[in-house]
Amino acid sequence: MTQDSSQGFDHSKYPSYKPIKKADRRWPDAVLTKAPQWCSVDLRDGNQALIEPMTSQKKLRLWELLVDLGFKQIEVGFPSASSHDFDFLRKLIEEKRIPDDVTVQVLTQAREELITKTFEALKGAKRAVLHFYNSTSTVQRDYVFGLDRDGITDIAVKGAQLVKQVAAQYPDTEWVFEYSPESFTGTEIDYAVEVCNAVVDVIKPTPEHPMIINLPATVEMSTPNVYADQIEWFCDHVDQRDALIISLHTHNDRGGAVAASELGILAGADRVEGTLLGNGERTGNMDIVTMAMNLYSQGIDPKLDFGQMDEMIAVCKECTQLPLHPRHPYAGELVFTAFSGSHQDAINKCLARRDDRDPWEVAYLPIDPADIGRSYQEVIRINSQSGKGGVAYVLKRDHGLDIPRWLQIDFSSAVQSLAEHSESEVVSDDIYQLFLNTYALDRSNVQVGRYQLAREETVDALQVDIVVGNTPTSITGRGNGVVAAFVDALGVYTGTKLVVVEYSEHTLGRDAEAEAICYVQVAIDGRRSCGVGRSQDIVQASMAAIVSAVSRASVFRDLAA
Ligand code: KIV
Ligand code: ZN
Repeated sequence: MTQDSSQGFDHSKYPSYKPIKKADRRWPDAVLTKAPQWCSVDLRDGNQALIEPMTSQKKLRLWELLVDLGFKQIEVGFPSASSHDFDFLRKLIEEKRIPDDVTVQVLTQAREELITKTFEALKGAKRAVLHFYNSTSTVQRDYVFGLDRDGITDIAVKGAQLVKQVAAQYPDTEWVFEYSPESFTGTEIDYAVEVCNAVVDVIKPTPEHPMIINLPATVEMSTPNVYADQIEWFCDHVDQRDALIISLHTHNDRGGAVAASELGILAGADRVEGTLLGNGERTGNMDIVTMAMNLYSQGIDPKLDFGQMDEMIAVCKECTQLPLHPRHPYAGELVFTAFSGSHQDAINKCLARRDDRDPWEVAYLPIDPADIGRSYQEVIRINSQSGKGGVAYVLKRDHGLDIPRWLQIDFSSAVQSLAEHSESEVVSDDIYQLFLNTYALDRSNVQVGRYQLAREETVDALQVDIVVGNTPTSITGRGNGVVAAFVDALGVYTGTKLVVVEYSEHTLGRDAEAEAICYVQVAIDGRRSCGVGRSQDIVQASMAAIVSAVSRASVFRDLAA
């Protein structure tokens, strides 16, 4: 396909983002040691991004979920811009639905009429974050507002003055102010500091009563390291850093919102705004589930509880009407599933050796699925790419069969051909049924009946009734032990040389009545064949396994005819 660079897919029309120069970069050596302050913006940024905005009922459902998950700061809306948000906030306050340790946050532009209405919506709240913002980027200044830096600073300063002044009229509420230079990453860094300093100068926060400065990647424009540089530079140059809570608010346009927030915390920020599962405008906000679980998987308490992940996903889906990708980090339906044989084998070995008291170290599984309410059922699933380890795992986990390695190899080709033939996943019950059919456990054409075993000096003499097809017969043999004696009898009867090469057995279940299952590999005139037998009597189970192996080699066919 030829490309005409004058139109269509033409990268040359995009200017490259200019990173800031930084000689004293410290964040690359920092490590995450604790959870940041979290603020969910699901009910505002998330809701604004929905095809169908949430009804009041859905908002309430999501609010309750956020509280249950452990969020202590929740942005509930934009009450001056939306009557639904206004009413919802009133409902939370009037119905006393805000727990004492949870602070509601509301957003407003830094404009007089909007600020006044926002305060009305918050009347009666015990504690609230009043979040005001204006756009500061070069693009917004030049094309949207037609204002220079001073004009934009003026909007921010007037907003801050008004916010402070109106808040004083509501002394019963404990106020926290938050200012966002919206489109921070599109703003020259020195100007971002300048405009925030101007706001800080009005609000006059103290270390005892800090204010929040939120630095949004309103549109993600660069790599996360550049964002981290900006945050570190900002923290180094802003006035009264000790009286500020530096907050991050990243969007995911380039797919790096989580990484940007993580690096931003390394660079000195204290707080992170985001949404559950990364819902939000365009490619979404920073995904708090992923970031929190990233901390969790490093042994850090995320201060949010995702132990009931599936219930949380169900509520999110119901409220947002958005599906979840099956490979979404930590939450997706397939993220703990291995189909490939080598991965299954590794997982199987790690899980088999695992002691619950040890730190989690399981190949291919960054966390224990059980921690978020997932079962091990989903860890290994079988399709045509799967190997013997996975099949063995499923047979053991779901059906109690502990099949030895040589039988795993034998049986895996049967599973593979079934999977290839069906061109789909093979579920656990189908694998079990295939196992029964392959080794003729339920419907062998050779039945082993009563037997008598007598010890004659050093050898055992065995007499067994068998039925081949419809023909009953009795066979006898001698050997060292019942298996050897039966092989001797069967060899004579079939006219073949039989040698038991592999043998393994275990009980199915724990009680005294439990059946025994026996697995054998027999060389029949030099050709190997595997068989399986089960019975409440271990001798019968062994004989049935040998019969199964010999039957599969078609040795009885001619005899039965
Ligand atoms: O993305 C953004 O810049 C915002 C601001 C209003 C904080 O949502
Ligand atoms: Zn946003």
